[in-house]
Amino acid sequence: MTQANPPSLIPLPLEYKAAPGAFTLTPATAIAIAPASAELAAIAEYLAARLRLVTGFALPVHVSAEPMQNNDITLSTLPDSSFDKAEYRLSVTAHSVNLQAVSPTGLFYAVQTLRQLLPPTVEANSLQNETWSIPACEVRDAPRFAWRGFMLDVARHFFPPADIKRCIDLLALYKCNYLHLHLTDDQGWRIMIESWPKLAEVGGLSAVGGGAGGFYSQAEYADLVEYARKQYITLVPEIETPGHINAALVGYPELSINDAAPGLYTGTQVGFSSLAVGKEITYKFLEDVIGELAALTPGPFFHFGGDEADSTVKADYLVFVERIQQICQKHGKRAIGWNEIVQADLLPGTVVQFWRPGEMEKAVQAGVQFILSPAWYTYLDMKYDESTRLGLNWAGFLEIRNVYDWNPGSQIPGLSEESILGVEAPLWTETVSTLKDIEYMAFPRLPALAEVGWSAQMLRDWENFRLRLADQGARMQMLGINFYQSPQIPWKTAAG
Ligand code: ACM
Repeated sequence: MTQANPPSLIPLPLEYKAAPGAFTLTPATAIAIAPASAELAAIAEYLAARLRLVTGFALPVHVSAEPMQNNDITLSTLPDSSFDKAEYRLSVTAHSVNLQAVSPTGLFYAVQTLRQLLPPTVEANSLQNETWSIPACEVRDAPRFAWRGFMLDVARHFFPPADIKRCIDLLALYKCNYLHLHLTDDQGWRIMIESWPKLAEVGGLSAVGGGAGGFYSQAEYADLVEYARKQYITLVPEIETPGHINAALVGYPELSINDAAPGLYTGTQVGFSSLAVGKEITYKFLEDVIGELAALTPGPFFHFGGDEADSTVKADYLVFVERIQQICQKHGKRAIGWNEIVQADLLPGTVVQFWRPGEMEKAVQAGVQFILSPAWYTYLDMKYDESTRLGLNWAGFLEIRNVYDWNPGSQIPGLSEESILGVEAPLWTETVSTLKDIEYMAFPRLPALAEVGWSAQMLRDWENFRLRLADQGARMQMLGINFYQSPQIPWKTAAG
C-alpha cells in the first residue's frame, strides 16, 4: 500500500506525486510572500537564511501580488475552508516553487518538506559547491495528530539553554511541535520562581551523580519560549507533583509532611518524596508556581506530573489531583498528568499522558484526551540493545523498528481517534548528561516517532521507512547529529 515517494521525506506526506523535471535555484531566485505579513516574512527569512548560507545567492524576500512568478519560491496563505490548519500544499515545477497553506503553521511545515527535497548539503554551515535542484512534484500533506512531542528531563541532569535550542532546531525539521520540559524532580529544580526563589537557588544545586546542577532564569526561559515559537514549537512546562518533589523541600521544608528539610538528592530512586497535601501552604505554593509559569507559557498546557506518588496517601492523592486541575484551569491552562491521575475525577480539558499499563476505562468514558507515550515504544532513555552504553532497559530494548512499528490508535481500548491528542517521546536523563548523549538517544528514534504522529497509519510501512531513514543519514551527518547507526537501517556512505 505504499505510494511512490522521494526516498528521503520524513515524516511521509499524505500525498506525493512526482512530475518530470526539477526546479534549480539560481542567483536570480527570489522568495515571494502573499499576502504581506510579518509572520510570512519571518518564515521566508528563515528559509532564505538557510539557503543563502549554503548557496551564496542573494535570495531577496519580496511581497508578491501574483503567485507563481518564474524562478520564484512563493509562500502564500489562502482563506480556503477546505484546508485544515496544519495542512499545506507544495507544488514544484521547472519554473517555480509554490507553498500554500491556510495558516503560517502549515507554511512552516511546507518549508521543512522543501528543505528535505533539497540535497543534504543544504544543512551545511558554509558555502557548498552543489546543484540546488528540487524534484518537480505535487505534495498535499496534513498531520494525523495535533501533538508530535519530545520530552526532555532537565531535572536529573541540567542542560543549558543552547542545548535546548539545538533540540528545538532538530525537532522542527521533522515537524514536531511540542517540547515538554520536565523542569523539576527529586534531583533538581530548574526554573526560577520569583516568589519562591530558594526552589531554584537551593533546589537547583544538585544533579544525578553529584554534578553541578543549574536552573533557567525566567528571562532565559522566556527566550526559549520565543525561540521555539519561531519554529512553531510550543514549550510545555512540567512541575512534578505531589511526588518527585525532594528538590523543592530542601529550601522549603514547610511544604513537606514532617516540616523537616531533606538533603539534596543525587541518586536515582523514585517514589520517596511528597508534598504535604493536607497543608494550605501547599496550595499557595502551587498557585504561585503555576501562576508564574502560566504567565511565561503562551500554549494552553501545563503539566503537573502526578506519577509514582508512592509516598502520598491515596485519598490525599485524589484530593490533590482534583485541586491542582482547578488551579491550572484558573490560570487558563489545561492540566496534563501522567496516567496515574486517572484514579481521580478529571476535568473535561485535562489530558492524560499514557506511559505504562493501567486501567484507563474511567478516563476514556469521561472523554478526556490522551497523549500516548507508552514506555515500550517511545521512551528514548531505553537502550537500543544490550550494548548501548547509555540508558536503561526496564521497558525493554528499543531499536528503531520498535519505535516505528505501532499504531497509536490501537493502544487503549475504546479510545477514539479524536481523543488522541498525539504522541510524545520522553527522554529521561538519569544516564544522559551531555548534548551528544541526547542526540545519540533521540536520533534516529525521534524521526521515527515523528512519523508515527504525523503520517497516516495506512501509508506507514517499515520497509519503506528504513530506506527513507537511510537517506536521511547524510542529512543528519551534515547537521552534525551524533546519531545511532542502527544495524536495522541500510545506511549509505557519505559519498553516496
Ligand atoms: C514516568 O516515566 N515516571 C512518567
